[in-house]
Amino acid sequence: MAENSVNLPGADSPAARSRDPWGEVAAGLGADLFLDPPLANTGTRGRAATLRRTLAEALRSAIRDGRLPPGTALPPYRSLAADLGVARGTVSAVYQELVAEGWLTARQGSATRVAEGAAHPDAGRDASTVQTATATATFRIQHDFSLGQPCAGMFPRTDWVRATRRVLTDCADDAFAPAHPQGRPELRLALAGYLGRTRGVRTTADRIVLGTAVQSALELLSRTVIGDVLAVESHGLPFHWRAVERGGTGVVPIPVDGEGMVVDELERSGASAVLLTPSHQFPTGVALSPARRMQVVDWARRTGAVIVEDDYDGEFRYDRDPVGALQALGPDVVIHAGSVSKSLSPAVRAGWLALPDHLVEKVVQAKGLREPDASILDQLILADLIGSGAYDRHIRRSRQAYRARRDALVDAMTATGFRLPGIAAGLHAVIPVEHDAENALVHRAFARGIGLVGLSVFRHPDAEPLPYGGLVVGFGTPAASTYTADLEALTRLLAGSGDDR
Ligand SMILES: Cc1ncc(COP(=O)(O)O)c(C=O)c1O
Repeated sequence: MAENSVNLPGADSPAARSRDPWGEVAAGLGADLFLDPPLANTGTRGRAATLRRTLAEALRSAIRDGRLPPGTALPPYRSLAADLGVARGTVSAVYQELVAEGWLTARQGSATRVAEGAAHPDAGRDASTVQTATATATFRIQHDFSLGQPCAGMFPRTDWVRATRRVLTDCADDAFAPAHPQGRPELRLALAGYLGRTRGVRTTADRIVLGTAVQSALELLSRTVIGDVLAVESHGLPFHWRAVERGGTGVVPIPVDGEGMVVDELERSGASAVLLTPSHQFPTGVALSPARRMQVVDWARRTGAVIVEDDYDGEFRYDRDPVGALQALGPDVVIHAGSVSKSLSPAVRAGWLALPDHLVEKVVQAKGLREPDASILDQLILADLIGSGAYDRHIRRSRQAYRARRDALVDAMTATGFRLPGIAAGLHAVIPVEHDAENALVHRAFARGIGLVGLSVFRHPDAEPLPYGGLVVGFGTPAASTYTADLEALTRLLAGSGDDR
């Protein structure tokens, strides 16, 4: 056998392996390891102390820059020694050194692994850098009210695992082939039933197009059916506007008041389409009033415009029966867009469009011959989750938990002298503060380890400010176990907010 060849698994006998160190390496490696610079090129072979330092630094560097992530099992030291052509004692000493420094962890009878947190950007820096990091350590987020996610601890892991097992056991082989860009019929059918039942959406499986998220759906729509100018609410998600602009559409902001978008202004704008969050305006939290719902549908019908309804948190309404989807008033002019980013997790990239009949073909064709982005297996798993009733149960459980959180937030804020505007819905709330106080409060919040954002972040650059400033808090984000403490921290911040003005 040539000196550098590696034995194929099973092609070697133990005797042959013991004659060939590479066979031992192949059989014993816990992880394939690429060291930069390779030891053999350092010119240090044979000089034990230098070799030891070089190997230790190569491992630290691989951990630091993330090539060896936390939890990675390192090769047994005998294997690595054989691999590198160095004494076993050298590798063993390096492992011990790195364990002592906190880069690695070792437990009797199990592999030596990269320690959790070892790749922290501060790890391995010199003392002065570490001191600077410590001085700014107060900016670490301890009370996380960030937006755009539900409570991670509520993800229905067991149901997801069960659905995955069922799907992988039962699905036909074509589930593993390239898929039609409209998406799996199983999920389109399940969603048509679910959206009709829970949101009043009037659609069928053949009018639904699946994708990954609302954001990517907006980009797709701007390339296909939105036209030249999309009207948006004066306050919303800047990365949604960017997605539309990437597709070649211009964006104009329309003011929002206590009844949602001012549709009279929309009528004057000359837009070819409008993007709305009618059930729970993001971020102000108001619902589009019944009169304006009628007015906007009428405008679209009269002018041939399209309405895109972003129904991002329609499942979570706490004070009375959910307001149905706007799409139900005008299935011929409204595109209903949704995803599981708020109901399950933004880590599951599954979203949908319920389209007017005449737009389906155009949108599907624009996606290409095959589904370009979405996971087909996840589509099947979600279809199973909905079909088995587990999705509904998860939504009901989540709604109860978020309602309790929202009530606690309202109570705490009322006791501190703040009244929350907007309807009781969704996973975020605006705490109104004076414009002048907003910035100072956001900075003070960060200094106290409270993660939140200012309302002005969501203002379109061409739009007038709202009559009030505010802090936008994602009350769904904190862990259940920390929520009370998180709320106390927020209350303390606001109780002293007079000092910031
Ligand atoms: C206003 C709004 N629309 C849509 C979404 C859903 O986002 P996506 O489906 O792009 O992940 C969110 C989630 O945070 C949102 O806040």
